[in-house]
This record gives sequence, structure tokens and C-alpha cells, in this order.
Amino acid sequence: MAQAPVGDDVWGEDPTVTHLQERAADLLGKPAALFVPSGTMANQVALLTHCNRADEVFVGEGNHSLYYESGAGSAWAGVSFNEVGRGGLFTAEQLQEAIRPLDQHFPHPRLVALENTHNRSGGRIFPQRDVEAIADAAHAKGLALHLDGARIWNASVATGCSTATLCEPVDSVSACFSKGLGAPVGSVLAGDTDFVERAHRYRKMLGGGMRQAGILAGGCLHALDHHIERLAEDHANARMLAQALSAVDGLRCDAAQVDTNIVVFEVTTRPARDFVARAAERGVKLAALDQSRVRAVTHLDVSAADMREAAQRLSGLT
Ligand SMILES: Cc1ncc(COP(=O)(O)O)c(C=O)c1O
Repeated sequence: MAQAPVGDDVWGEDPTVTHLQERAADLLGKPAALFVPSGTMANQVALLTHCNRADEVFVGEGNHSLYYESGAGSAWAGVSFNEVGRGGLFTAEQLQEAIRPLDQHFPHPRLVALENTHNRSGGRIFPQRDVEAIADAAHAKGLALHLDGARIWNASVATGCSTATLCEPVDSVSACFSKGLGAPVGSVLAGDTDFVERAHRYRKMLGGGMRQAGILAGGCLHALDHHIERLAEDHANARMLAQALSAVDGLRCDAAQVDTNIVVFEVTTRPARDFVARAAERGVKLAALDQSRVRAVTHLDVSAADMREAAQRLSGLT
């Protein structure tokens, strides 16, 4: 990062940012890509670029833009969200049922936004045949399709399918170099050239134009070079944790539901927040998702030995 050649990216003159954008576009199988500081900004710029105010966006249950982006979709893009199906993943048939006829009483259906992998459901992989069928159904109704691919790298490593193939059916995709890939800062929004040109203006409006951003893009390039294949270790560690927790009285954990690097389990003996607080006292960081569910995430700073130790410490806390 310290050695990255830099320029002023607000003027499009930072060679490292330009290189990262070209490389990310290629990996995601789209003609163009735009570097942004965060996954949240990537999603918000996507909503602004695809939608008009009062448009309707169809998402899976617990979608990140609906649940975790501070209501920004309604504040900035002025859209409303319609949750389809249960558990984050859904089918083309469920989408078709949710899309109402064009009528002055209803918001204008404009966008479908998928999440792969899906965070709140525990890093679940969206089956590609469903993504393809949803794309066909959305496009047939004149809706565009955005993919929140913050963890698309995890889906790719777990399925053996290239990121470009996974993104092929969608019109735009956001992806993060932070999170599992380990870069400190940076995400990207990819799509066709006209889409990315329009997105550029919204990035500016949100304050996401950064000057010598090559120092950040350098970290993202390092992550692409060194940290993609190793995501398989995170997936193995997550499965190991889930298997250990499934044997603990007072916890409900289904290791078969662990597709990637997120483990969601239920605490049956005390509120999830109490369990998380007790775990923190024992040096294990977790997040409570609601009253009973807890999320654990594996990443490149946690080894298999650390994971065995974490499972051991958690087993005494119910
Ligand atoms: C699925 C998903 N999308 C988007 C984001 C937002 O990314 P950021 O924290 O970089 O804004 C996250 C963050 O955890 C996420 O899990």
C-alpha cells in the first residue's frame, strides 16, 4: 500500500485505482467498475443509479440494504423495500407472486436486489439456477437486477464457480475487498459502462470521491492476489466451529447450514446478548442477531487452532 503509485482519483488520475477498477470489472465479468469506500456506499450508489424516488425494490428477508444501512435506501434513493420469501434466499416464482400489477396505488416495481452470500441467514449461497431464473423473471417484467456480492468471493471459492459466472445474470454487482479478503478499506460497484458512468455522479454526491486513493486500492489488489483461495480455510474453520457448537447443550447449531464463513446458531438458555457478553469476557467476539440468534464469522486472522480454542471457550457459557 505504501508503495502504490498514486494520483488524484477525483480527476481519474490515480493509476492504482484505475488498475483495480479494471481488474475488478474483469473478475466480475462486467465492462466497468467504480471504486468506493464501503459496501454500503456501493449498494446505495446502485439504488440511486437504478431507481427513481418511490420505486420498489424486491429483496430477500434480512437484506443488508434494508436491515443494516441505517434506512439510507429510503433517505437517499427514496425507495421502499419488499421482502420476498423467508430466510434471505427466494425463487423466481416467489418474486413473480410479490410483483404487483402496475397501479397507481402501488410503488413502481423497479429493482430486484439479491445478496450472495447472504449475511443474516449465515453466509448462505444463492443457488445459481435461482439467480438465473430470478434474472429472467425480473427482466421479463422490466426490472433490473442488482447483486450485493460483498462476499461473492466466498460463494465463488465454495462453489468452484468463477465470480464472473456467478455475476453473469445480474445488471450490477457490489463486491468488498474488506471483510474476508482482508483489505482495510474498499469495495467496488460493477456494471455496464453507461451504468458506471451514471454511478460515478452518485458516488460524488455521497462524498465518495477520494483523492490519492491508490494507497487503499493497493491493499485491495494485494487481497485479490493473495487472499481469495485461502477463503477455503475460513469455510473449513466455520464448519469446524459449527460442528463443535452443535454438540453443546443449550445451543442449536446445524453444521449442514454452513456454506461459507458465517455460523449462525441459537442460544436456548439465555438471551443471545447475554451469551455474546459472556463470550466477550472470555475473549471470543460474536454478534447477537436478535433475541436468540448469534453470528460468528471466520476470517484470515483466525487460525484453525484459534477456532478450536474459541469452540472450547464457548462450550462452557450456556
Ligand atoms: C452483505 C453485505 N453487504 C454490504 C455490507 C456493507 O459493507 P460495509 O461494511 O463495507 O459498508 C455488508 C457488511 O457487513 C454485508 O454483510
